[in-house]
Amino acid sequence: MEDFIRRLPKVELHLHIEGSMEPELMFELAQRNNVSLPYASVEEARNAYHFQDLQSFLDIYYQGADVLITERDFFDLTWAYLMRCKADNVIHTEIFFDPQTHTARGIAFDTVINGIYHALKQGEKELGITSQLIMCFLRHLSEEAAFETLEQAKPHLNRIVGVGLDSSELGNPPEKFARVFAEALSLGLKTVAHAGEEGPAQNIRDAISLLHVSRVDHGVQCVQDDELVSELALSRMPLTVCPLSNIKLRVFDSMTDHNIIRLLDRGLCVTINSDDPAFFGGYMTDNFLALYHAMAPTRSQFAQFTRNAIEAAFVSPEAKQAMMQKLDDFTVVNHLH
Ligand code: HPA
Ligand code: ZN
Repeated sequence: MEDFIRRLPKVELHLHIEGSMEPELMFELAQRNNVSLPYASVEEARNAYHFQDLQSFLDIYYQGADVLITERDFFDLTWAYLMRCKADNVIHTEIFFDPQTHTARGIAFDTVINGIYHALKQGEKELGITSQLIMCFLRHLSEEAAFETLEQAKPHLNRIVGVGLDSSELGNPPEKFARVFAEALSLGLKTVAHAGEEGPAQNIRDAISLLHVSRVDHGVQCVQDDELVSELALSRMPLTVCPLSNIKLRVFDSMTDHNIIRLLDRGLCVTINSDDPAFFGGYMTDNFLALYHAMAPTRSQFAQFTRNAIEAAFVSPEAKQAMMQKLDDFTVVNHLH
């Protein structure tokens, strides 16, 4: 089964590129850029990665991003993530980046997006991994700051498939960004938002009705509202669920308490993703394996997670068809048909 999980073709839809920075790379970039770190060693950094909730993680996550200065840094960060994708048989990935984390430190928007984008293009050419880029607004910052960020993105709209909303959910509800999301939609961008991670099910309803999202990131608190769960199943609204993240940030006490299998059984379009793998204990395969060890889902359930992610991806019908074919080829060989 573990071998099956490793080889299963996967599609990732919820990955913060800044959250894929392993401590080894963080130290390398700190040295390269003469940035001082609050840790004496890689080991000390890893030992600091224990969190009580989302905010305690975010404080450490934003601090780690300080070592990212040049276009080459953003390239190296993205390339390292793509190598993990290759090892995990991730065939397509849609990654988030947080421009405000960098522009607030005086790093140019262009430096950030150029580094990430060039690595993604090289990944497509050399590794055969296709990708999309989603720009997130930091919800603890103002609506005005989000509008400024959208303005900076305008010369790069051909490189960005959509906008998202991340950072502290509690106290920063979807309605705060309704106007900037409306402008993003008018520019032809898709919208997604973190909702119902720590916040209430109402945030999921509001992300759908006020931000017109095509996918909900996390969304696991939907179970507070049974009517909403039925609506999500009926509409096939995708939820990009992040199992290891939810355990590390204490959304669930343990993996055996996680609700992703129950949501799958109720017909929701749930997917498995790694969120911030360098901080939460693993990449895509690790998330699949953690679920396997806790709840022993079947092979066809694991294949369904990839099928759902393909359905939810921001790519053309032809590209979806090609990915479904890769999955079908795999399941036939593994006697799943
Ligand atoms: N939630 C909110 N903001 C984030 C996360 C998350 O899981 N990861 C990185 N930024
Ligand atoms: Zn996230």
